[in-house]
Amino acid sequence: MSLTIRKVAGALGAEISGADLSANLPDGVITQIRAALVEHQVIFFRDQSLSPEDQVAFGRRFGPLNIHPYVRGMDGHPEVMEIIKEPADRTNFGGGWHSDTSFLERPAIGSILYALELPEWGGDTLFSSQVAAYEALSPGLKATLESLSAVHSAGQEYSPQGHSAQKRTSMSVAEAEGAVGEFIHPVVLVHPESGRKALYVNPAFTLRIEGWTKRESRPLLDFLFEHCRYEGYTCRFNWRPGSVAFWDNRQVWHFALNDYPGQRRYMRRVTVDPA
Ligand code: SIN
Repeated sequence: MSLTIRKVAGALGAEISGADLSANLPDGVITQIRAALVEHQVIFFRDQSLSPEDQVAFGRRFGPLNIHPYVRGMDGHPEVMEIIKEPADRTNFGGGWHSDTSFLERPAIGSILYALELPEWGGDTLFSSQVAAYEALSPGLKATLESLSAVHSAGQEYSPQGHSAQKRTSMSVAEAEGAVGEFIHPVVLVHPESGRKALYVNPAFTLRIEGWTKRESRPLLDFLFEHCRYEGYTCRFNWRPGSVAFWDNRQVWHFALNDYPGQRRYMRRVTVDPA
């Protein structure tokens, strides 16, 4: 089986053809897909047909699957998250720049999203390379950031006042009960497979720099959040039914556009944890 890999933008993203993700792919093909993910940060496949079992089986080739602490999985498939926006919904899931589950002690390494139903127009997903964002910084700021860690929490999204817990009818998103944990991650992450460095803070889940107050952290985080979404670091994926996006949360942010009022969008995601 030979894969064809075609870059889609300068900073990140590649479309791969020649693989049927529902098949029990040989180890060599999985190795090629993993290498493409590490190199291109987000990879795309078209014209797939995946049952929940197929998606789980494919995801497990890359590591154990996460069961989301706040979003209830499919009946019988707790690792499969249904990401649904119904015509009456005003908000969407993932409608802000973030890196999946950075609020956990051991955040997800990858996410595999499969499209089943799409609006007639809109509903694209944006990705931003945090490798490119890191590399564009001055040597002085890089050195400063490499000495820092940041505090992440699910509170802004999943507490009773959080964005995701509110006004949603189509997805079962639980409010975090009691105190939401805070976990500390380096501001600059060194990728364990490539050794490449990437910024690892995001507007949804990063609260402050460790050892700094929220007020002290704000100017630096605001600068980074603005810098990290610069258009030149991004690519945009236009979904079709059967499309799959597989992104590396250690290298990219993503943003689900909410630009299709009155229409339905239905996706399924599995999320790969570190081994
Ligand atoms: C997400 O995983 O954040 C949702 C992405 C999307 O629905 O495009």
